[in-house]
Amino acid sequence: MYEWIKALHVIAVIAWMAGMLYLPRLFVYHCEAEAGSKQSETFKVMERRLLKAIINPAMIVTWLAGLYLVWAGHWLSAGWLHGKLFLVLVLSGVHGFFSRCVKDFSADRNTRSQKFYRIINEVPTALMIVIVILVVVKPI
Ligand code: HEM
Repeated sequence: MYEWIKALHVIAVIAWMAGMLYLPRLFVYHCEAEAGSKQSETFKVMERRLLKAIINPAMIVTWLAGLYLVWAGHWLSAGWLHGKLFLVLVLSGVHGFFSRCVKDFSADRNTRSQKFYRIINEVPTALMIVIVILVVVKPI
């Protein structure tokens, strides 16, 4: 059972991360589209669907399966898990921020620059690298 839930966890992580890496890329291009243009409306649909159909459900499955693994594997006192949980909470906060950006774009009231989205685009990648090292190598 543990191994099956771990497989589900990794599958959900891949879907969550794929969305978290792609969504800010869409924001970068969306900045170039004029509000009210056909292109801008297309980006709105793409962003909303990516968030609602992929990113949100994938995050929920990742959390549920991850918490099961913590419980079933008796990992609660492991140092790597504490570091990982902290970084996953930050990642979940970035997720919440992205969903606010989707709302702002959909109401044509985005005020953040393209450069801002290019920079924030790297944050999920950096978090993911450290999280994977913590859980696979378990250095602490
Ligand atoms: C949402 C909260 C999360 C919790 C509570 C959690 C917890 C866990 C636990 C307890 C394990 C089992 C470790 C083992 O059996 O050695 C695990 C496996 C794993 N987790 Fe998470 N995790 C979470 C999110 C994430 C995220 C966001 C990522 C990647 C960005 C991730 C990547 C992985 C990977 C790759 C494994 C497999 C490691 C292995 O088999 O060696 N997890 N997770």
